[in-house]
Amino acid sequence: MAVLEDGQRIRSNLITSQTDVHRRYGGVVPELASRKHLEALNPMLQMAMEEAGVSYCDLDVVAVTHGPGLIGAVLVGVAVAKTLAACLGLPLLGVNHLEGHLYSPFLENPELEYPLLALLVSGGHTQLVHLPCAGRYQVMGATRDDAAGEAFDKVAKLLELGYPGGPVVDKLATQGNAKAVAFPRPMLDNGYEFSFSGLKTAVRNQVEREPLAVEDLCASFQAAVVEVLVTKMERAADELGVENVVVAGGVACNSGLRRALEEMCLRRGFRLAIPSPRLCTDNAAMIARAGWELYRLGVRSPLDLDAYASMPLKDRI
Ligand code: KG4
Ligand code: ZN
Repeated sequence: MAVLEDGQRIRSNLITSQTDVHRRYGGVVPELASRKHLEALNPMLQMAMEEAGVSYCDLDVVAVTHGPGLIGAVLVGVAVAKTLAACLGLPLLGVNHLEGHLYSPFLENPELEYPLLALLVSGGHTQLVHLPCAGRYQVMGATRDDAAGEAFDKVAKLLELGYPGGPVVDKLATQGNAKAVAFPRPMLDNGYEFSFSGLKTAVRNQVEREPLAVEDLCASFQAAVVEVLVTKMERAADELGVENVVVAGGVACNSGLRRALEEMCLRRGFRLAIPSPRLCTDNAAMIARAGWELYRLGVRSPLDLDAYASMPLKDRI
């Protein structure tokens, strides 16, 4: 739950995590997730308003994620947003969760310019998206199977490192040898699509074949993911002739990915914007930012706005 002023100033951005609830199941349990959302939302709303130091009559627009995601949880958020918009007589804006990630780099880099190329890497998605201008999304390629974050989570599970896996693998990787195992670089020379499920299997096979230090396995796995992501990003920027590149989504927290992208962009003279880690992982400020962007484009959502489990990126103009 966040309050954003003029699309830029984050007056509050509260995150409540359910990780502890789901950890013992090794992943998110949908029914538990929506119940926890229901319990958390009203107190969070009040806290976000208090922290922002604003009252309800100061608000101009209500933006909400209406997909893609676990439908029960998304529905809870949509119901709260509709109620707010209806009671306060404010415009409602249904935001695609991916749009939130795409605009998140603008929160800390207001001078960012279009056209830009975005690498969106989260637990559910891996996409290279070209934004010729605000509100237009050209998906250059996406994953054919597992998302990058999902691969991190599955490898962590395999190595019994707990859930969510990304941050642990990242940390262990810093202490390991990235050249210990030459894991495959799936589809490296092949267009803009990704595939990470084979890589996960390669890690499993390696573990079954010979025991290696977990740090080395993490470092080698992470190096494979990072090389694929950075290589495709560079190639896409080249083909498009784009100089502004951004990375968003939970996996954009990854220290190896951040470093490799910084190096590539420095070498190639691209301008790179990566949000701070707290704005990479799911948060409401990014949804507010996307809502603000859409509002300026003239987009409005009806009060019977629906929630969607899956939802492709669609052009807004
Ligand atoms: O964007 P996000 O918060 O939620 C989704 O929309 O999916 O991304 C969560 C994903 C998880 O898979 C998590 O393991 C991964 O981001 N992640 C990381 C790191 N921090 C979070 N993956 C690699 N390295 C990290 N440091
Ligand atoms: Zn996300």
